[in-house]
Amino acid sequence: MILILHTHPYPQRSRTGRALLESVRDLPNVVVRSLYDLYPDFDIDIATEQAMLADADLVVLLHPVYWYSIPAMLKHYFDVVLTRGWAYTSAGGRTGSSAKPGDGDALRGKHLLWVATTGGTASSYAEGEMHAMPFKGYEAPLRQTAHFCGMVWEAPISIHGAHVISEDDVAEAATKFRARLIAWRKPDVA
Ligand SMILES: Cc1cc2nc3c(=O)[nH]c(=O)nc-3n(C[C@H](O)[C@H](O)[C@H](O)COP(=O)(O)O)c2cc1C
Repeated sequence: MILILHTHPYPQRSRTGRALLESVRDLPNVVVRSLYDLYPDFDIDIATEQAMLADADLVVLLHPVYWYSIPAMLKHYFDVVLTRGWAYTSAGGRTGSSAKPGDGDALRGKHLLWVATTGGTASSYAEGEMHAMPFKGYEAPLRQTAHFCGMVWEAPISIHGAHVISEDDVAEAATKFRARLIAWRKPDVA
């Protein structure tokens, strides 16, 4: 199962993220959780969200970039859902060092795909430009969160200039995203 955690505070105003989401909604193995719709008061149902994650092979984070990071809801989701003893070991270490099976290994081996839209254009994410460095420079905390929980980091997708790119470019990004999810297979574990 592919679990899409869609976190957009104003989904009706979304242009690019919405196009990506709508392009994959009908896929039979895709489950969408739009967190701002589900939890308008931020009162996340932890047991339900952990069960959804446990069922997933691939977790997709789909959101607009806010202040070079994830929206507040997704940060809160990490804070309350990725608990010690479930997402990482009760000893506080990463899952790979867990001594006891079942201690903090709920996410181990699952794959994580980060799909971010930005207002900044592709050329503005460069040294000396408005956003100071390539967009890849902003992925480290998320990538390490995945690694800390024993997850496999997939090559991310970023759509820049989400307000200014053409309708054709939005449609192309959505088509590519759909193709990527259709092609995704859980790797065989030896
Ligand atoms: C509070 C806030 C913070 C934002 N921070 C950034 C940012 O750090 N970098 C950036 O490129 N765009 C930033 N944006 C622009 C959003 O990323 C952009 O509106 C969104 O990706 C567009 O996608 P959508 O069409 O799905 O809404 C910000 C927007 C808001 C409202």
